Amino acid sequence: MGRVSGKTALVTGGASGIGLSAATLLAKEGAKVVIGDFNVEGAKEAASQLKKQGFEAEGIFLDASKEESIKEAVDFTVDHFGTINVLYNNVGLTNLKKDLDVVNMDLDEWDRLMNVNLKSVLLGSRFAIPHMIKAGGGSIINTASMAAFAGDAMRSAYGASKAAVVNLTRYIAAQYGKHNIRCNGVAPGLILTPAAKNNMPPAVLDIFAKYNALPYHGEADDIGNTVLFLASDESKFITGQTIQVEGGHYMANPSIADFQNFLASVQK
Ligand SMILES: NC(=O)c1ccc[n+]([C@@H]2O[C@H](COP(=O)([O-])OP(=O)(O)OC[C@H]3O[C@@H](n4cnc5c(N)ncnc54)[C@H](O)[C@@H]3O)[C@@H](O)[C@H]2O)c1
Repeated sequence: MGRVSGKTALVTGGASGIGLSAATLLAKEGAKVVIGDFNVEGAKEAASQLKKQGFEAEGIFLDASKEESIKEAVDFTVDHFGTINVLYNNVGLTNLKKDLDVVNMDLDEWDRLMNVNLKSVLLGSRFAIPHMIKAGGGSIINTASMAAFAGDAMRSAYGASKAAVVNLTRYIAAQYGKHNIRCNGVAPGLILTPAAKNNMPPAVLDIFAKYNALPYHGEADDIGNTVLFLASDESKFITGQTIQVEGGHYMANPSIADFQNFLASVQK
């Protein structure tokens, strides 16, 4: 028996990075998995790799910026596998060229990121919840970000949209808990996915590494394993929470690395 045997899961943005890790781990632990992604070839390829290994998975087109497409993905999951027990709302975007500080940011980009990062969570949940109620319960998991918990020099829309995801997570948990539906978030710090590597120059990755409490960067499976736990019944008394998976980057005084260097220099 796998940790999520008997469950059916829809993973949005599952063709790459964090979503791909979660979809893979869920399938390997016994779930039937639908991978929905804008990159439909990537979604189908991921599903085909899983099927070759004897797991149950399907890859479909999903545009998380479109209500109808999100509904179709939920409907496909229910039609194909009979129900939906786990919904992982993972799609999220950032744009380092247009999502800037408050004075200079592009307002169309604000609207686009709110739609893709936040409204897609609302819509996926809205379409899945009636099926989960019918099935006797379910687990909704949302990808937030540590950008939800701290200010930054730029990415104002990204941070605001992810902070809203953290609170929408609590609202869903509060509203549907009595139907045995749990809703939790996972807030990654920097995770070395293709998106992060493409967006961040090595000098920026070094800054992140310097301020991590741990001596390494996060990887997609660090988030995928958290999602697996939240999807499974092992987390059955956890709801409304957003788990921070961030290598201790944000938990201490941000100047600690400089203090450590100072102490080392005076203790010589
Ligand atoms: N990587 C990090 O450091 C990090 C940190 C904090 C939060 N996150 C969040 O994790 C989530 C996944 O990020 P990732 O780093 O794995 O990214 P990624 O680019 O590796 O994967 C994202 C996937 O989503 C798909 N996608 C993008 N827009 C879509 C849309 N409109 N409809 C359907 N699919 C779409 C892409 O095709 C891709 O397969 C995002 O919500 C992101 O904000 C990532």
